[in-house]
Amino acid sequence: MSDRQYIQINLSDIIKGIGEEQTKKLLSSFYCPLNKDVEKFLKERAIEFSKRDLSKTHLVYWGCPDGHDRELVGYYTISHKSILVSKDNVSKRLYRGLSEFGEYDSFSKCRRLPAILIGQLGKNFADGNDTLITGDELLHMALERIKNIQYEIGGRYTYLECEDKPQLINFYESNGFSKFGKRYLDNDETDINGSYLIQLLKKI
Ligand SMILES: CC(C)(COP(=O)(O)OP(=O)(O)OC[C@H]1O[C@@H](n2cnc3c(N)ncnc32)[C@H](O)[C@@H]1OP(=O)(O)O)[C@@H](O)C(=O)NCCC(=O)NCCS
Repeated sequence: MSDRQYIQINLSDIIKGIGEEQTKKLLSSFYCPLNKDVEKFLKERAIEFSKRDLSKTHLVYWGCPDGHDRELVGYYTISHKSILVSKDNVSKRLYRGLSEFGEYDSFSKCRRLPAILIGQLGKNFADGNDTLITGDELLHMALERIKNIQYEIGGRYTYLECEDKPQLINFYESNGFSKFGKRYLDNDETDINGSYLIQLLKKI
C-alpha cells in the first residue's frame, strides 16, 4: 500500500490516449448521489468541453504510479472567466486587494476581474472510493494547479458557485473562500437544487 499515491490526469490526455469512446466508458462508473450535476457533467459534458477547450477536467486517481490498481476517487474542472464583485458583498480588505485586478463597471457598480473558475469538484462515491480522499485534499489539488497557472500568467483569484447548502458553504469557507454573490440558474441547469447558486471567491 505504501507506494500508492494520488495521480492527476488531464481528461484531454486520456481522450488523446484511448479515444473518446473508451474515455466515456471509463467515466461511466463515476457516481455522485449527493450532487447529480457533478455526476452528469463528468459523464455527459466533460469530454466535449475538454475537446472544445471550454474547460479542462482533471481526474484524480488513487493507486500505484505504474498504472496498476488505480481507483478514480474524484475530479475537478477549471476554466477562465470574469466575475463582477460588489464592494457591498465582500470585506474591505478583499475588495481593496482585488481592485487592481479589475476595472470598475459603472453600470453594475462592481469591479469586473478575471478569475479562474472551479466549475466542478466532487468525490467518486462508487465502491466506497470517496473514503480514499477527503474534500480538502481534492480542493487543494485544484488550488495548487490554479496557483501554478497564475504563476505563469498572473492573476490571484479563484471562484466557484455552489448550492446554498450549509455543508457546502462550510466546506468552502473553511478552505478560505468568502461569499461574494448569488447567480440565478439558467434554464438548462436542471440538475441543481434551488433557483440560484452562491458564489464564493478566494485569493490564492
Ligand atoms: C463536497 C465534498 C468534496 C466534501 O468532501 P469532504 O470534505 O470529504 O466531506 P464529506 O464527503 O464527508 O461530506 C461532509 C458532509 O457534507 C455532506 N454533503 C457533501 N456534499 C453535499 C451536497 N452536495 N449536498 C448535501 N450535503 C452534502 C455529506 O453528506 C456529509 O454530511 P454528514 O457529515 O452529515 O455525513 C464531497 O462531499 C462531495 O464530493 N460532494 C458531492 C459533490 C459536491 O456537492 N461538490 C460540490 C460542488 S460545488
